[in-house]
Amino acid sequence: MSAEPLEIHLDDRDVAESLRRDVRVGLSAEAKWLPPKWFYDTRGSELFDEITRLPEYYPTRAERAVLAEHAAEIAESTGAKTLIELGSGSSEKTRLLLDAFTRRGGLGTFVPLDVSVSALRGSTAALAADYAGLRVRGIVGDFTRDLHRLPAGGRRLVIFLGGTIGNLLPAERAEFLTRMRAALEVGDWFLVGTDLVKDPSVIVPAYDDAAGVTAEFNRNVLRVLNRELGADFDPEAFDHVALWDPEREWIEMRLRAQRPMRVRVLDMAVDFAAGEQMRTEVSAKFRPEGIAAELAAAGLPAYRFWTDPDGLFGVTLARAD
Ligand code: SAH
Ligand code: AVI
Repeated sequence: MSAEPLEIHLDDRDVAESLRRDVRVGLSAEAKWLPPKWFYDTRGSELFDEITRLPEYYPTRAERAVLAEHAAEIAESTGAKTLIELGSGSSEKTRLLLDAFTRRGGLGTFVPLDVSVSALRGSTAALAADYAGLRVRGIVGDFTRDLHRLPAGGRRLVIFLGGTIGNLLPAERAEFLTRMRAALEVGDWFLVGTDLVKDPSVIVPAYDDAAGVTAEFNRNVLRVLNRELGADFDPEAFDHVALWDPEREWIEMRLRAQRPMRVRVLDMAVDFAAGEQMRTEVSAKFRPEGIAAELAAAGLPAYRFWTDPDGLFGVTLARAD
């Protein structure tokens, strides 16, 4: 079956407006910051896929190991008719679930949702070609905004893989989970991947790889601002920083100005001091008890929790009650 045309919940005008708002707020703040969703233009999505294959970046391999081990149980327990994936990217690991559902039978529709049109175009075409009989209905949307517009009815399983939930700040995460629960019916399922707290000597290199791919990914956000808003950032004048925050148990990616700079963006003149750092991403790491508590507080009690054999990454299957 060929993929259906992408359903657009986020048009170019919405995107431009929300980018302008985020840039205005983030770059006029005392401590400058940008939200991570702006990494993912075509180049950013390609760079992320490259990151997933780096020797230092363990989360993708670890989550894939969990899914390989438990996909059949997930298909059997949920008996889903519709599978919805938030922040789906390439949906590569999702194939393990689609294979298990194909063996079990009963899954009719797969709905990947992402802000990245290029990632969705690639994944929907490839999946429709490889899974004959599966309806593949890609949605261009923002999972912090568009959950109330997910397809209704049937027995649904919503998956949120990769640890992307950790890229939301704690308050955003709580709001996301509340909205997620509100979008589900009692008995629907939610599967979420979370990177786990571990020794920073393992975590930090995953965000500061020797080949410099993560550094390029980080600087890509400046290229997006240059292209979309006519800003005049010199991306090469910013160094990549990955810092472990032991209190908040998250990695912060930052861009550090190598020299004093005045950048023009929108109608603003934004000054950077030499050495000034701008936060571009938070990637929270979780403890099993914390994940269970956050899910339960949102009305999504955990039904199963699994990790890979090395205990690096957790996957929780929760059920709307
Ligand atoms: N799920 C994949 C990809 C993770 S990368 C994996 O596990 O490998 C994060 C993905 O989330 C990217 O494809 C990015 O475009 C998407 N994304 C980031 N913020 C988003 C948002 N607010 N709404 C929808 N998609 C978002
Ligand atoms: C998408 N997300 C879960 C990745 C992460 O690990 O936080 C994004 C990323 N940032 C740097 N490397 C990968």
